[in-house]
Amino acid sequence: KRPAGAPSPGLAREVTKVGIVGAGLMAGQIALLFARRMEVPVVLTDLDQARVDKGVAYVHQEIEKLANKGRLNPGKAAKLRGLVTGDVDKAGFADADLVIEAVFENLDVKKQVWAEVEKIVSPECVLATNTSSLSVTAMAEHLEHPERVVGFHFFNPVSVMPLLEIVRAAKTDDATLATAFAVGKQLRKSCVLVKDAPSFVVNRLLTRFLGEILGAIDAGTPLDVANQALDPLGLPMRPLALLTMVGPAVALHVGETLHEAFPDRFGVSENLGRIVEAGKPLTDRDGAIDPEVAALLKIGDTA
Ligand code: 3HC
Repeated sequence: KRPAGAPSPGLAREVTKVGIVGAGLMAGQIALLFARRMEVPVVLTDLDQARVDKGVAYVHQEIEKLANKGRLNPGKAAKLRGLVTGDVDKAGFADADLVIEAVFENLDVKKQVWAEVEKIVSPECVLATNTSSLSVTAMAEHLEHPERVVGFHFFNPVSVMPLLEIVRAAKTDDATLATAFAVGKQLRKSCVLVKDAPSFVVNRLLTRFLGEILGAIDAGTPLDVANQALDPLGLPMRPLALLTMVGPAVALHVGETLHEAFPDRFGVSENLGRIVEAGKPLTDRDGAIDPEVAALLKIGDTA
């Protein structure tokens, strides 16, 4: 069944090569997904060669891990490793059909990235942003071909989370949207079409959820109590572990975007800023709290 709002799949363009701007963790996870599910060449790029090499090495290591777990046979693993390459020079994007950006969450940086990419790619190449909360329409407004810009919002961990939010910007055309849905299907994601509204859908809920936990901490609820109090809801992860996995800096950015858009509905906890400043994980994967980071937090008085 065609997802709600998706154009005719017949309009989709074939994607035979993918470029990714950014070689950080999210970009690496996305590169791995494309190589694994679509078996197309994926070229990573970043500000300097060291970052590019680190990103490519991460993807190659993840492929190795899958092979060691018996999830990929050695031949397939070698093929996938060969598909993922990187270069600081974006010239390799010239024959890409899709370029995804997963860079720092800053509108001006993203606009600059697209302006540079547009000089290299063909006018039909789809430009997809993995922004967590920024306006896709604003990102595309100065481009020569804004109709090929779309939002492609993945969730952490990218290989496991089934959902993909596809964002239609003001000028996105049907061929671009159809291509986004076709690619999402090939990646085996459940695609939902969302409005280009601040933080789309999932991050609004997540920000409200984590914001209430942080609010309880600000008010004096001990960290470990706040972290366990949701257990009856049967969530797969403790809230502060989820905050750590998403990345406090990303959560802060999403929170600030929502606060700006809806000041009456979204506040920003100062403790979130302190967690970001700490620069190290607040919890481990199981939710155990790091005492040094915890000591930096200002817990209010419940009295
Ligand atoms: N990075 C990459 N892969 C990870 C991972 C991580 N941090 N944590 C777990 N995984 C993978 C494992 O490798 C495993 O993969 P496999 O099935 O292919 O072997 C799979 O996830 C399941 O792992 P486990 O069996 O060890 O662990 P769990 O059953 O405890 O599940 C979880 C782990 C899937 C992370 C689960 O706890 C979960 O669903 N948590 C909620 C995650 C969530 O809500 N994500 C959305 C965040 S919002 C977001 O990302 C948007 C952004 O804009 C902020």
